[in-house]
Amino acid sequence: MTTDPYQYLEGFHNHHTSEALPDSLPKGQNTPQKCPYNLYAEQLSGTAFTVPRTHNQRSWLYRIRPSVVHEPFSPLQAGTDALLSNFANAHITPNQLRWDPFDLPQDGEEVDFVTGLRTVAGAGDAATRNGLAIHIYHANQNMSKRAFYNADGDFLIVPQHGRLDITTEFGKIMVHPNEICVIQRGIRYSVDLPDGPVRGYILEVFGAHYELPDLGPIGANGLANPRDFVTPQAYYEDADNEEWQMVTKFLGKLFVAKQNHSPFDVVAWHGNYAPYKYDLAKFCVINSVSYDHIDPSIFTVLTCKSDTVGVAIADFVIFPPRWAVQENTFRPPYFHRNCMSEFMGLILGDYEGKTGGFQPGGASLHNIMTPHGPDAAVFQKASTAELQPVRVADGTQAFMFETSLTLSVTEWGLVKCNKVQPDYWKSWRALESQFSATQI
Ligand SMILES: [Fe+2]
Repeated sequence: MTTDPYQYLEGFHNHHTSEALPDSLPKGQNTPQKCPYNLYAEQLSGTAFTVPRTHNQRSWLYRIRPSVVHEPFSPLQAGTDALLSNFANAHITPNQLRWDPFDLPQDGEEVDFVTGLRTVAGAGDAATRNGLAIHIYHANQNMSKRAFYNADGDFLIVPQHGRLDITTEFGKIMVHPNEICVIQRGIRYSVDLPDGPVRGYILEVFGAHYELPDLGPIGANGLANPRDFVTPQAYYEDADNEEWQMVTKFLGKLFVAKQNHSPFDVVAWHGNYAPYKYDLAKFCVINSVSYDHIDPSIFTVLTCKSDTVGVAIADFVIFPPRWAVQENTFRPPYFHRNCMSEFMGLILGDYEGKTGGFQPGGASLHNIMTPHGPDAAVFQKASTAELQPVRVADGTQAFMFETSLTLSVTEWGLVKCNKVQPDYWKSWRALESQFSATQI
């Protein structure tokens, strides 16, 4: 039995086993007639039973009560109009968009991790298991006796401000800014706020799970290494006659049910469907050591693949501190138009591609085929700089949610949040012709 509840198992999607009491996992089978300690056996499936073995994800939970022991669900009013899981009627715009930092909870506002979720953009539909949603969370209240599970998709959580102390069915996870956490569909958890108010970003995928990108010629090592992903160890509460709320996000609506005991009563578990976290500072950066700016796919931490080889429903990409050494090269991100949509956020510091306006806690969206690139000041400086090996992005962490789908923007994202910068397009207005037909 562990005394420190924040203990982790290493490895990405590994089959783990974890016991909070000795010999609490059944030996040799999943559903013995009677489980050790009189626990109930319950399977949580993350994939269809019949997907190829290499894709199959499931865990067996051995718990004090099965999770079916709760009262009926009814709609939860708070925050329900803030979420979206079908983007057929959301706003569409080909314009470049940039947001000032999203608000932390305001005076008099009481929101927890669930009621403080706001959908900004997305594509597709959770009901048909195709697409994604991008959310901002802001909260200033512990969830305390409230737990949450998302029936729609997997959450990739990117804290920007404040730690998240997350109790899950699988154990406890403390997530800092500059770490990320993935909590898959169906897994129950509760979020406390040890540092007070929090803010961050979430990439939700409806139809598949996150995986590590293939490395191709890079070889077996580099980018995000599997051993650096950690999963919590079993931890349980034996709490009877406590009133708990179980909240679910089900097709973008919140529902709540009462139960009279803690849902975090899993004494032992085994399987490969479990939440995990990753420290972005551990990313092993690959880049050009000769010339040219390499495509940002070299910075992919996690990907959610589509059915088309090489095309992602969503990639999670970071722009970490590193050396830039390329010769005779315009080193910042180049001007481009992309067949993918790019939603960017900033965890801390300054992003190398812009001189201002893109701030920690803010965001930008460059949708499919919407042109963008460095502003005039960055272009001028990088075009004339004497090129030496230099450190890039120290003290910063920008990231991108990149998707092959066209993103629509919610009413909250485009209007109600009141953070869209109307003058963003002017960032590029100063890029004048420098063409000379007589230049040799
Ligand atoms: Fe871009």
